[in-house]
Amino acid sequence: MNGQNLRSLEHEARARLEPAVYDFFAGGADDEVTLGANESAIAALRLLPRVLRGIGEPRLGLDLFGTKLASPVFASPTAFHKLAHPDGETATARACAAAHALYVVSMAATTSLEDVRKVAPEAALAFQIYLQPDRGFTEALVRRAERAGVAALFVSVDSPVFGRRERDLRNGFTDLPPHLACENMRGNDGVVRSITFSSSASWDDIDWLRAKTDLPIVVKGIAHRDDAAIAVRLGVAAVMVSNHGGRQLDVMPAAIDLLPPIADEVAGRVPVLFDGGVRRGTDVLKALALGATAVGVGRPILWGLAAGGGEGVARVFASLDDELRRALTLCGLGSIGEASRAIVMAGAAR
Ligand SMILES: Cc1cc2nc3c(=O)[nH]c(=O)nc-3n(C[C@H](O)[C@H](O)[C@H](O)COP(=O)(O)O)c2cc1C
Repeated sequence: MNGQNLRSLEHEARARLEPAVYDFFAGGADDEVTLGANESAIAALRLLPRVLRGIGEPRLGLDLFGTKLASPVFASPTAFHKLAHPDGETATARACAAAHALYVVSMAATTSLEDVRKVAPEAALAFQIYLQPDRGFTEALVRRAERAGVAALFVSVDSPVFGRRERDLRNGFTDLPPHLACENMRGNDGVVRSITFSSSASWDDIDWLRAKTDLPIVVKGIAHRDDAAIAVRLGVAAVMVSNHGGRQLDVMPAAIDLLPPIADEVAGRVPVLFDGGVRRGTDVLKALALGATAVGVGRPILWGLAAGGGEGVARVFASLDDELRRALTLCGLGSIGEASRAIVMAGAAR
């Protein structure tokens, strides 16, 4: 692919974006300790290959929530795609559909879920929400998600309060420009509500939600194995290990270090999804080997969008899938399901 990779895509994106928007996408909470750790902890792991396994062409596909996906790489929910490119979420959706990859549309999207679905009728979509104190509004969102035919509902549980993003405070970046809005927060009256980050949300809300919908529920932002255990007991369809890309509680462990204990706790009862710091196909393979069923990318999608709209997002999937295929082959693995902890070793940091 012309020597391109996700890092060169970020450089292209940075050159095109207003500095304050770049900082909003790139930044993390407080001292950005967790943000940095997400990438460096993955980089510090090594892969130990086996040879002469006669594997042929490795298989990347999987079935998740009854949906066939061509790759374990998916688009994690990220806000404000129209800040990256005027085509915004519709370009993301088309690119994900073409790659047969899951796209988790954010509650904070600048395009409504209905409009996203309209341009990508075949896309494997999921919808992410933050539990709102107004249960009526949350329920209305769930009905919209059901009507839009999403494969799953991702409930982000790592945001009882908004993380302190000092880059944004320094840049005076506090809200969307007036011509854009969080379209999923627009009520029937046409008024756009603010997203509430509520510290009153509890497991009771997950229980309530489960009773309200047949959609598979994924809890996104699980860090502690005991929380994974509670989630599984409550009947969620999947657990997602994530520290929100280092944007919420700074000084959390690197996301990849959270994964093994949670995979142990869940013990195959439900899929374990993962994101945080994934920039290479080898990073995807490391996460799969440590227990992830599928692996999300957040910022790389925004870099792709900013660099080239839908075509840029397509490059993200093409690069990661190509790199993952090569990494599997070099490790002697015939499919993503064959990745196990035996291939991962601790190494020195770069
Ligand atoms: C600019 C930006 C916006 C985000 N918006 C959301 C969001 O609306 N909902 C959510 O659950 N997570 C959100 N996230 C977190 C991502 O879903 C994901 O957990 C994180 O980006 C993964 O780390 P990575 O960027 O290193 O891949 C956002 C992340 C970024 C960088």
